[in-house]
Amino acid sequence: MKPQSSPKTYRVKSFGCQMNVYDGERMAELLGERGIQPAPEGEEADLVILNTCHIREKAAEKVYSDIGRLVKAGNKAGKAPLIAVAGCVAQAEGEEIMARAPAVSIVVGPQAYHRLPEMLDTAANGGRATDTDMPAIAKFDALPGRKKRGPSAFLTVQEGCDKFCTYCVVPYTRGAEISRPFAHLVAEAQKLVETGACEITLLGQNVNAWSGEDDKGRKTGLGGLIRTLAEIDGLERIRYTTSHPNDMDDDLIAAHGEVDKLMPYLHLPVQSGSDRVLKAMNRQHTAESYLKLLEQFRAVRPDIALSGDFIVGFPGETEAEFEDTLRIVDEVRYAHSFTFKYSPRPGTPAATMEGQIAAEVMDDRLQRLQARIAHHQFAFNKASVGKTCQVLVERTGKLPGQWLGKSPWLQSVWFESPAAIGDLVEVTLDEAGPNSLMARLRQTITV
Ligand code: SAH
Ligand code: SF4
Ligand code: F3S
Repeated sequence: MKPQSSPKTYRVKSFGCQMNVYDGERMAELLGERGIQPAPEGEEADLVILNTCHIREKAAEKVYSDIGRLVKAGNKAGKAPLIAVAGCVAQAEGEEIMARAPAVSIVVGPQAYHRLPEMLDTAANGGRATDTDMPAIAKFDALPGRKKRGPSAFLTVQEGCDKFCTYCVVPYTRGAEISRPFAHLVAEAQKLVETGACEITLLGQNVNAWSGEDDKGRKTGLGGLIRTLAEIDGLERIRYTTSHPNDMDDDLIAAHGEVDKLMPYLHLPVQSGSDRVLKAMNRQHTAESYLKLLEQFRAVRPDIALSGDFIVGFPGETEAEFEDTLRIVDEVRYAHSFTFKYSPRPGTPAATMEGQIAAEVMDDRLQRLQARIAHHQFAFNKASVGKTCQVLVERTGKLPGQWLGKSPWLQSVWFESPAAIGDLVEVTLDEAGPNSLMARLRQTITV
């Protein structure tokens, strides 16, 4: 079936990390400029953009089943949607997608999506278009202004990765590390605040590798950028993710003790607690250097909530090495964490290493690690009971009159007093669950 020639409605489905969510928003803004509207809830869209993730095998395979589902739904409705594949699978497997999925009209990589309008013209004329270039010039310059979103906004400040951990596809799908210019970021942050954001999360594959020159021409790192953004009136909260231990500098650590708007939360992946495994992963840090770094954060901000990423079953990981990971979890007492089973990715060095771990062993290790992490997360929540803190209201709860927001430590907090999305309220945390807390409203803070 021939796809819709010029789409009037779109839907963007983003998978993977928050940087994909940000890219999805920017693509939506581009389509909005062209007069293409978001498809109403429950209706098929004329144009579907699958904004994909390549980080693990399951994530990458998902794109083909999604395409199949869209074709089926299109056949049933008598109207095939125009399908565009964006994101990291597009970058890594663009040619394969075009060969394997004739229903796909557009393949566009994460550094090329500002060219989406021209590609849509090609597709509207019945053609197919692929663009997986990684132009050094910022795509950001070619994108339209920011549109109104919720109270919490993402802002990509840094892209790409030069670290080449042996298991990871990101350096190949996102390219080399680049930092967006200081002035552009300050302007975008101001715009986001004008359109209603009171929290901004700065994003980057290695966000703390960001560097630039401030308005006085001085070289500055992420700490300096955060200090400048903190001066924006109406911006109440600043967060950043994801950091790499080796890119951490003293100024960023110090900012946690000095900038009130910088939230007491740090996501700092360690991946494994075993130095042998860390070396095989090419992480360039040890368990001890990582722990020392966290001590520095705790010294300036004792209440900081720590979060990590872990991979179990990296090739060659022994039971004793896995236990080193459990040990580091106990030592750090993370408030939150993400755990993954190692997934061999084509083209990465670890995929062909000896000692690939059996699925049952990985399952068992994942379960044990998750149990340990859940224990510490619950303990962190329990230790928060009795505290009075601010919560940014993000949405309504399941029950009438119930609201859900985030604490400074990124915990989900429920309360049942009159409020509105975007309110910053002061609450007392009353009761802890494993994944959230219940609270009592004290006052609404007018921003
Ligand atoms: N740049 C960030 C994270 C990027 S990817 C960092 O270095 O910390 C997010 C997480 O996915 C990683 O931290 C890692 O835990 C996980 N991951 C990456 N590649 C993986 C693979 N091949 N198998 C399983 N997990 C993986
Ligand atoms: Fe991947 Fe390592 Fe780069 Fe993180 S630092 S994106 S895990 S290569
Ligand atoms: Fe996935 Fe690409 Fe992000 S591989 S995790 S969407 S950088």
